[in-house]
Amino acid sequence: MDHKLMIVMISMFVAAFFFMPSLTVYADDDHKKKWYNKILGDDDDSDHHEKKRERKQDGSHSGNSKRTQKNTVYQDTCGECHFAYQPDLMPTASWTALMKSLDDHFGESIELDDDSMKTIADYLNTNSADNSRTKRGTKIIKSLKNKMPMRITEIPYLVHEHHEISPNVFDRESIGSFSNCVACHTTAEDGIYDDDNVRIPK
Ligand code: HEC
Ligand code: HEC
Repeated sequence: MDHKLMIVMISMFVAAFFFMPSLTVYADDDHKKKWYNKILGDDDDSDHHEKKRERKQDGSHSGNSKRTQKNTVYQDTCGECHFAYQPDLMPTASWTALMKSLDDHFGESIELDDDSMKTIADYLNTNSADNSRTKRGTKIIKSLKNKMPMRITEIPYLVHEHHEISPNVFDRESIGSFSNCVACHTTAEDGIYDDDNVRIPK
């Protein structure tokens, strides 16, 4: 290749490298933080970065370094009427109370054989918010301050994360209610709730 041409190309590349991020800065203030941090290694945005790092580390595309394995009995039984909520979304005390009141489960009566009952209760307790040590679990426990809700949608941390969404959005036919995590979180089945994978349907 001609030397002159090569120099021109290299300078264009260098110019683009420095110029492009500055365009983004004006377009989006939030972005500024992110590309800046990437270059400076600033820890301001650590939550987001840590997630990405963990994801790379275990290659599982999970928001948590310690990923909760799925359990077939749980998925089949508790995923029949609604999304099979991840165990780390509620504390052990809530799951225990819920499993003890399956004869009146939000107006439904659920009957389980002893084996399934034990398998599911063990799975929920082992991987609950307080026992799982996932990042999300820790935030949930912190926000509860010893309260024990029977609903995931009553957990203060989760209520707070959704406080900007107006009630009539949840009422949309395509969503139904706050309880329908999978309507908006496209990767909820894999336990991933980060903002990169949220899409609120019309
Ligand atoms: C026969 C249908 C059915 C089955 C099976 C079922 N559920 Fe439910 N579940 C419901 C209904 C109905 C609600 C209330 C939904 C609502 O109010 O939007 C609910 C709500 C919940 C909630 C609260 C969600 C929220 O709003 O935060 C949890 C947690 C839950 N179920 C866990 C379980 C577990 C664990 C099992 C398995 C042992 C299970 N469910 C099996 C029907 C069912
Ligand atoms: C109407 C759509 C919608 C529904 C339904 C919904 N979410 Fe969200 N969720 C969002 C949006 C939007 C955000 C905020 C994303 C952001 O940070 O900008 C969010 C944030 C979150 C976060 C914080 C993620 C993070 O990395 O900071 C968690 C955890 C979460 N949701 C869990 C749930 C669970 C569990 C359910 C079901 C019980 C649920 N969501 C139902 C739209 C929804």
